[in-house]
Amino acid sequence: MCGIVGFVGKKEASPILVEGLSKLEYRGYDSAGVAVLKDELIEVIKCKGRLKNLEDKLSEEPIKGSIGIGHTRWATHGEPSDVNSHPHSNKNESISVVHNGIIENYLNIKEWLISKGYEFLSETDTEVIPNLIDYYYNGDLLDAVMRAVSDMEGSYALGVICTKEPDKIVAVRKDSPLIVGVGKEEYFIASDIPAVLNHTREVYLLEDKEFVVLTKTGVEIFDEHKEKVSKDIYHVTWNADAAEKGGYEDFMLKEIHEQPKAIRDTMASRITKGNPISLDKIKLTKEDLENFNRIYIVACGTAYHAGVVGKNIIENLARIPVEVDIASEFRYRNPILDNKTLVMVISQSGETADTLAVLRESKKKGCRVIAITNVVGSSVSREADDVIYTWAGPEIAVASTKAYVTQLVAMYIIALYFAEIKETISKKEIEDIKEELLSLPEKAEKTLEKKEMLQKFAAQNYMHRDMFFLGRGLDYAVSMEGSLKLKEISYIHSEAYAGGELKHGPIALIEKGTVVVSTITQMDLKDKMLSNIKEVVTRGAKILAVTFEGNNDVEKSVDSVIYIPKTLDILSPILSVIPLQLISYYMAKQKGCDVDKPRNLAKSVTVE
Ligand code: F6R
Repeated sequence: MCGIVGFVGKKEASPILVEGLSKLEYRGYDSAGVAVLKDELIEVIKCKGRLKNLEDKLSEEPIKGSIGIGHTRWATHGEPSDVNSHPHSNKNESISVVHNGIIENYLNIKEWLISKGYEFLSETDTEVIPNLIDYYYNGDLLDAVMRAVSDMEGSYALGVICTKEPDKIVAVRKDSPLIVGVGKEEYFIASDIPAVLNHTREVYLLEDKEFVVLTKTGVEIFDEHKEKVSKDIYHVTWNADAAEKGGYEDFMLKEIHEQPKAIRDTMASRITKGNPISLDKIKLTKEDLENFNRIYIVACGTAYHAGVVGKNIIENLARIPVEVDIASEFRYRNPILDNKTLVMVISQSGETADTLAVLRESKKKGCRVIAITNVVGSSVSREADDVIYTWAGPEIAVASTKAYVTQLVAMYIIALYFAEIKETISKKEIEDIKEELLSLPEKAEKTLEKKEMLQKFAAQNYMHRDMFFLGRGLDYAVSMEGSLKLKEISYIHSEAYAGGELKHGPIALIEKGTVVVSTITQMDLKDKMLSNIKEVVTRGAKILAVTFEGNNDVEKSVDSVIYIPKTLDILSPILSVIPLQLISYYMAKQKGCDVDKPRNLAKSVTVE
């Protein structure tokens, strides 16, 4: 939610800020702005709409100066508009702030500041921050920022500049991500690493309530008591190219095509023929596992859908009861948590506010928490007891694709690891599943070859207003993900239903021409699924089936079939989701939608 950047060095700040923001647009794209400091004056340029609008404005009225901050917004408080865009400033424009997060008690602070004579222009929560800093400013910007944040409740990553201390940026984070880039006589702040990668690979990963002062000559980090903190530099090993489109039309298409590699990378060294599963540094004994009477998998959105698959396979392979829940529900339903509960949180970004809150609450209650995340150094990775990284590489498109398949791979690795320890299935069965898993990158490549058929299907059906996804068991879990993908990027209303559930109400929605995508990879449920398909065909539905090669009899019951390579039923989600992702992608393209930046969304939901 929102991306912030900051630069201090010898070069012109505004092109560097804009370039950094272009790497963060995935975090929000309702408006953008920069503030640059020169000759003890702050100049702010900001406007509603995509970053392009800001670039156009800056080319008309360039701003000079080698210290500045920038912001790309996902609106929470106040509609997207010029006035609500960041940076926000105090009345005499001596202090400017960019903010990612939400100040929950901003109304109280605002009222109080108004009583002290302060005035406000925007509807945002953020505008209280420069004013509060102004109120506390007494010749020391760091001090004033520290005092201001101690009044603030909620989440924030802040970048602050001040005309009275024109050589520095002060920054701080709490519950919103922030990194510091360390270059040669130039320093950066950013919400995410790709924003600084063209300039440096050396970064500091800040902890909550750490304050940073950046000047041309260096970076100082302080804790909330103003004690200096010494931190290790994190060296980024992945390439800046990983965050570029690499010849693809959109990041989403690129990321869909990166899935074979992402699956392979996530398995690498953890799954090898003839060796026990290696779960990085995690050590769980048979006793530990027997002590757990329940596992909770908690996540949001696509990551939650990976958890639904995880529940099914962990219960099947390791025979441990698993509950899976949406983080925003779980945290408020007073779940039964104690030291006999293992909690697994899944989060691509590792920064999702609700997921992070579940992690913290679970730890407080004595649970062991394993985080599955794609972002090294993210909040969940730092706060969980154990971490399993999904090696998908940076995922830029807002709609998650490669992160999802790698989350599935992580679920298989964990399920097999538990099964191995608990000896719930034979060594031979484990070896067979491992062998098949190792063949999936190649089978994913083959699945991608079906894209022309899916493109054709999309061209014929993109004008529909509703679509349904049907499946049973693991196919239902994948259908949920297919349906989410379709609605979020193509804005076509869609629902996923369990095949057997349809006749308990939703079948009333089926009429002549309704499009239904049915996934059929669970062979013990195939006949039942075909009966469910008959039920909707009888009511006029048009069916596209996704099934394994060899299931030719399916053709008799449906209008068209996409065949995916045969694998074990239990592993099918890794392959069957690919056609569903491509259907969404091509439907959205046909409709002319911006697939990488769907309306109203942001990649990383760092607010409740
Ligand atoms: C959908 C999507 C979202 C995320 C959700 C959780 O394509 O990307 O539903 O899965 O916002 O995000 P993370 O995994 O970063 O916690």
